[in-house]
Amino acid sequence: MSGQQETAVYTHGHHESVLRSHTWRTAANSAAYLLGSLKPHMTILDIGCGPGTITADLAELVPDGHVTGVDRAPEIVEVARATAAERGLTHTDFAVADVHALDYPDDTFCVVHAHQVLQHVGDPVRALREMKRVTRPNGLVAVRDSDYGAMTWYPASPGMDAWLDLYRRVARANGGEPDAGRRLKAWALEAGFTDIAATSDTWTFSTPDEREWWSGLWADRTLASAYAERAMEGGHATAEELRAVSAAWREWGRRPEGWFGVLHGEILCRKEA
Ligand SMILES: C[S@@+](CC[C@H](N)C(=O)[O-])C[C@H]1O[C@@H](n2cnc3c(N)ncnc32)[C@H](O)[C@@H]1O
Repeated sequence: MSGQQETAVYTHGHHESVLRSHTWRTAANSAAYLLGSLKPHMTILDIGCGPGTITADLAELVPDGHVTGVDRAPEIVEVARATAAERGLTHTDFAVADVHALDYPDDTFCVVHAHQVLQHVGDPVRALREMKRVTRPNGLVAVRDSDYGAMTWYPASPGMDAWLDLYRRVARANGGEPDAGRRLKAWALEAGFTDIAATSDTWTFSTPDEREWWSGLWADRTLASAYAERAMEGGHATAEELRAVSAAWREWGRRPEGWFGVLHGEILCRKEA
């Protein structure tokens, strides 16, 4: 392992209301930009794997290869390991690791992937350099992050505006960059990549079930999660303000015309041969 490690605090933590969102994620809804490049024999490192649902999907797509999932939080690495075991995916392994200082030799993996991770780290350019280091020549670094400043919804509501403002302040105070999606290409250039395909993709929440799920997890997360604690401890919001933001989410979820769009930036970077 080399170099300086993480300086940022992971804003969300792994409360049930957070995992409700992470465990919904699949390779299809979160890594479509990468899937066409995968071959059955490939080795993949999935960094910041969280509970491992995307990791497990990636493993199913490389049945003759191997997938390693790593995360900085030991408790979520255990959850990811269980996810893969439940799905009978024996060509996987899991470990605790910090993306800034990976304990793997140079040129190890065919693909190094990170979904919704670089927005939370203290030094995303250093993270990308480290991801590049452990990627084989001609291999791929694949990164996707949402962009909070580009999230949009209908109908307009002051409580939802307060949510976005509060979230971005808390995430930045924790050392992250909530508007990461738009910056990924710039970070990759700074990290020394020259072959970069930069794209975007969205999640949309609009049906009654989608609105109930998306509003419910944010309403709950605003009252009981590491994010809520950090919002109050850092002096960014009072308990009363958090209750108002949570109520605004519930109100948005009840609106039949409710619509929410999440924009993600994506980069697929090929390491030089
Ligand atoms: C938003 S979650 C994404 C989880 C998963 N990739 C997904 O999309 O469902 C971000 C994850 O990155 C992890 N993380 C944060 N900082 C990290 C770091 N420096 N190195 C490795 N993992 C980190 C967190 O513990 C968390 O599990």
